[in-house]
Amino acid sequence: MAVRSLGEFLDALESRGDLVRVRSPVSRDLEITEITRRTIGRDGPALLFENVTGASMPVAMNVLGSTRRITQALGVDNLDAMAQRIAQLTRLKPPAGIVGALRDIPGTLQTLELVRSLGPKRVSRAPCQEVQRPTVDLDQLPILRCWPGDGGRTITFPVVVTQDPETGESHTGIYRLQQYGPDTLGFHAQIHRVGRNNLRKWAAKGVRMPVAAAIGMDPVTLLSGLAPVPEGISNFVFASFLRGEPLELVGCKTIDLEVPAQSEIVLEGYVDPAESRLEGPFGDHTGYYSAAEPFPVFHVTCITHRAKPVYLSTVTGKPPTEDAVLGKAVERIFLPVVRLVLPEIVDMNLPTEGLFINLGIVSIRKSYPGHARKVMHALWGLGQMMFTRYLVIVDADVDVHDLHEVLYRVALQADPEADFERVHGPVDQLSISNPVPNFGAKVGIDATRKGPADGFPRAWPDEIRMDAEVIRTVDALFAQDAALKGRASGAPP
Ligand SMILES: Cc1cc2nc3c(=O)[nH]c(=O)nc-3n(C[C@H](O)[C@H](O)[C@H](O)COP(=O)(O)O)c2cc1C
Repeated sequence: MAVRSLGEFLDALESRGDLVRVRSPVSRDLEITEITRRTIGRDGPALLFENVTGASMPVAMNVLGSTRRITQALGVDNLDAMAQRIAQLTRLKPPAGIVGALRDIPGTLQTLELVRSLGPKRVSRAPCQEVQRPTVDLDQLPILRCWPGDGGRTITFPVVVTQDPETGESHTGIYRLQQYGPDTLGFHAQIHRVGRNNLRKWAAKGVRMPVAAAIGMDPVTLLSGLAPVPEGISNFVFASFLRGEPLELVGCKTIDLEVPAQSEIVLEGYVDPAESRLEGPFGDHTGYYSAAEPFPVFHVTCITHRAKPVYLSTVTGKPPTEDAVLGKAVERIFLPVVRLVLPEIVDMNLPTEGLFINLGIVSIRKSYPGHARKVMHALWGLGQMMFTRYLVIVDADVDVHDLHEVLYRVALQADPEADFERVHGPVDQLSISNPVPNFGAKVGIDATRKGPADGFPRAWPDEIRMDAEVIRTVDALFAQDAALKGRASGAPP
């Protein structure tokens, strides 16, 4: 059975020795950041700060800051196993998926069972509404000030729920919420986000957008809450699928939105499309401060929470950070979705150093002239892959995770004149080196081997390979000869 709440997950981590309770008094201003930063770099445990000065509830940090904890939360041995399950979901996207599944007679029963299990379950009573605060006062939450130059205390790990007013479909994203006062927050949904697109739709109707922010929940719902799910699949359906059982949702008290019933804390309110206010600076995942910029304002009209809530937070900054670990997990589990559109892709690496938006390395099975360029352009048109500023394409046999091998292929096999594809388009709002915000250049590097089919006029040389027979003979020698035993370095090519 899936873990139902953050509390249950923390208990499970503690029983495995993967949670540390910090009982010394700590300040929510900067100190929690510094303690968390020191532990995450060593793949350290989750942290529960039980004595946060002036706070009436504990603060949980680094809960998903390790691949070990993410795989445990998902109930899999490795992320590729989860990727396979997600590939199944994308094939099943209802209603077309159901019809398609019916054609697959042997798999039909299992398929229908799975589809039935996808829908979240509505409940009328929920732990996240055990307490409804008589007045809205955000100062009663232990909101962190993360970095010295931050413009204010910030809720860094909320699952923010918005709704498309045209389809009624709800969507979630993690958008930080910087505190302005007792009942107002900056709504930091960047301009390319679905939450921001929903706001544009409410603005077109001339109506305020209802918004809910759920803070702290079971880890799978949290992960689903930030996942770039394929269009047409709601994050809550996705959460149910990953959990293997329906996610419980409850209607908000004052607005027409639903939130995960087992959340710790829920903020309800609205964003007025006509209003904006400077948000930031904020110590961001680039390792730099994002400058203050106008963002919409989230007015909180109701706060509900559990009787004994735990406040969940995270700290961004230069990797290693929790969001970098989460980004890597998202890359792994969503590879099948990318492959659905581009089946020629063998593997993909968005290195942490590239912050998932700056650098992508992709191996492909190349079949025709310009194939690497076709893949570049398709990726630049695919969801958040549009932000990738440097896209390196290598042949299928190159291990994209071996950065030495990738550099070797780029430096040797990509011609700066013929193999660089420079384009212009949308760039992530946090990107710092494009002269114009949100727009800039991107470069694709075709580091595949070239041949006549690419219009390459010279003969591509043969790569050096040892004879298979000699390899076998020498393998045997290494196994027998006392002087050589255990001295082999690496497998032969
Ligand atoms: C810890 C963390 C903090 C994030 N903060 C923000 C943020 O403040 N603003 C933002 O637009 N995206 C932020 N993101 C990224 C989005 O949540 C993520 O890209 C998600 O896919 C939302 O995209 P969508 O709303 O377009 O689906 C954050 C992600 C993480 C893991």
